[in-house]
Amino acid sequence: MADFDLIVIGAGPGGYVCAIHAAQLGLKVACVEGRETLGGTCLNVGCIPSKALLNATHQLHEVHENFEKMGLMGGAPTVDWEKMQAYKQDVVNGNTKGIEFLFKKNKVTWLKGWGSIPAAGQVKVGDEIHNAKNIVVATGSVAASLPGIEIDEEVIVTSTGALALGSIPKSVVVIGAGVIGLEMGSVYKRLGAEVTVVEYLDAITPGMDAEIAKNFQKILTKQGFKFTLGAAVQGATRTDKGASVTYKLKKDDSEHTIEADVVLVATGRKPYTDGLGLAELGVEMEQRGQVKIDAHWATNVKGIYAIGDAVVGPMLAHKAEDEGMAVAEVIAGKHGHVNYGVIPGVIYTTPEVASVGQTEEQLKAAGVAYKVGKFPFMGNARAKAVFQAEGFVKLLADKETDRVLGCHIIGPGAGDLIHEICMAMEFGASAQDVALTCHAHPTYSEAVREAALACGDGAIHA
Ligand code: NAI
Repeated sequence: MADFDLIVIGAGPGGYVCAIHAAQLGLKVACVEGRETLGGTCLNVGCIPSKALLNATHQLHEVHENFEKMGLMGGAPTVDWEKMQAYKQDVVNGNTKGIEFLFKKNKVTWLKGWGSIPAAGQVKVGDEIHNAKNIVVATGSVAASLPGIEIDEEVIVTSTGALALGSIPKSVVVIGAGVIGLEMGSVYKRLGAEVTVVEYLDAITPGMDAEIAKNFQKILTKQGFKFTLGAAVQGATRTDKGASVTYKLKKDDSEHTIEADVVLVATGRKPYTDGLGLAELGVEMEQRGQVKIDAHWATNVKGIYAIGDAVVGPMLAHKAEDEGMAVAEVIAGKHGHVNYGVIPGVIYTTPEVASVGQTEEQLKAAGVAYKVGKFPFMGNARAKAVFQAEGFVKLLADKETDRVLGCHIIGPGAGDLIHEICMAMEFGASAQDVALTCHAHPTYSEAVREAALACGDGAIHA
């Protein structure tokens, strides 16, 4: 008899959500995790600690930029880096303990250690073999470095090291203008560092709606970020003072060197499936190292499923969570579903940037007739009251049917505002549906409604 109906390998957002939901559905579940704490990369060394540092440094920025304007006098506080790190760790600890509690509450067994799959239906943790009717691989991803760069997590760091530097650097070179580079770059910029971002492409945040990306770059430049675009990084080496990075400009092949106290390598992540024994089992993989799955997250080996960063798709915690929920349903004999067309993406800088659905470039490429409704936060009273009137909402709707096809927001609370449009898209709403919905005044959300109005007869406050 099997020890468990399901063993999930990995307790990140994909794995732990899958385990809890499967237990809710009546399955006997275990979750294997080798870290000291649950929650995976996201909770321990990713999304959550970075949000703590972004919050602390955003407050500092507010003191510098806006306090006097509001009659709050007294000067800027000094930064106690150790205390800020302790605050960050408290936030992490609270969350990881929370998951431990949820495991107990839902009777999910935590198998402590690193798991492998010696045979279908078996998971080995330490010296013990546990039998399982079903196995879900939710092992996530690791930072993908570049050839010629040796990460030491002290001076040449990935996001993990960047979250726990020994001291506040005076200068940082960020390789890669993606989400990690711009979020962690913001943290150190606000703490006074000179931040230079070196990016291979000619624009920041690849894949984002080009108009938003351009605007975002302008805003970050105003904040003091320096960008070197169209630059292929060749290598980075440690020096007496810090590190030096060499890159080649694509336009003329010229080679350049830049020095900094710290170098953050933020050039993407790769699936982490080492040591699981998948190759020996004959589990098929994709070309870029992800586990190959069908429409129900099943691999080609019966009883083995995979989700999250370990499979194809955006490497986002919430995408992994949704897949975790859905695969739990499938294993419990129900119907699991993920709408891959409505997965929001958020960058937690100030201002925040958020998007869902199609970009204007994608619609053009697909030959879809669309209309654009735009509304600037300059016309939003609430945003102006809190000095956050930069940015705009851009809503894309089908020209014929008015159905909402995508939304891209740069501005205050963008990461929360976007969900109104996620919901609209899930229900197949039109821009007019959004425009006819009462939005409280004064809220940032009125900017979304105004963008929807701009898809029709026109916005009121622009
Ligand atoms: P990314 O894929 O977002 O960006 C990497 C950037 O590095 C790209 O712009 C790429 O063109 C550039 N690059 C690659 N090779 C280069 C070279 N040799 N020289 C110069 N530039 C080069 O990757 P990132 O920021 O490391 O994030 C990893 C993953 O983590 C992403 O999938 C991201 O979605 C996820 N993540 C999500 C967050 C969020 O949702 N807020 C926060 C942090 C990470």
